[in-house]
Amino acid sequence: MNEIGMTLNGRKVQDRVEGRCTLADFVREQQGLTGTHLGCEHGVCGACTVLMDGKPVRSCITFAAAADGSEVRTIEGFDDDKVMAVIRRAFSEEHGLQCGFCTPGMLITIRDVIERGVATDQKAIRVALAGNICRCTGYLGIVRSVQRAVALLEEGSQQS
Ligand code: FES
Ligand code: FES
Repeated sequence: MNEIGMTLNGRKVQDRVEGRCTLADFVREQQGLTGTHLGCEHGVCGACTVLMDGKPVRSCITFAAAADGSEVRTIEGFDDDKVMAVIRRAFSEEHGLQCGFCTPGMLITIRDVIERGVATDQKAIRVALAGNICRCTGYLGIVRSVQRAVALLEEGSQQS
């Protein structure tokens, strides 16, 4: 067992983990944050995406011990985030989800894509989201949601 500590959604946490414990299992099972979903569990679908030190990582293939000393942000850590609020609104207006299973990882990736300014057109959005698989929507609603979120954020920045 390893003793690890991290800042999780702004809160300092400390716990003991097995060397083979993944970050996904740590946040879900030891910290009770079940908003991080597990789909493929081998780094393909993106459902388990969280931010580690500000960068998206696949928590199913990241060992919890590798996050020792890091800042980790799961979907629960975006409740008061203004950009995420806009993306959520756009998802609702443009039907960016159906069952919602892929959505936590999708939202975290999209926020990163928007913040990095690479959501410039449909093709760029599709390329940027290639690592997040959705089995329901056919992606049209998701791509439209990203475009709408970008437009809403631009409108907001022009008004302020
Ligand atoms: S569950 Fe981690 S990438 Fe699929
Ligand atoms: S909304 Fe169902 S998997 Fe994406």
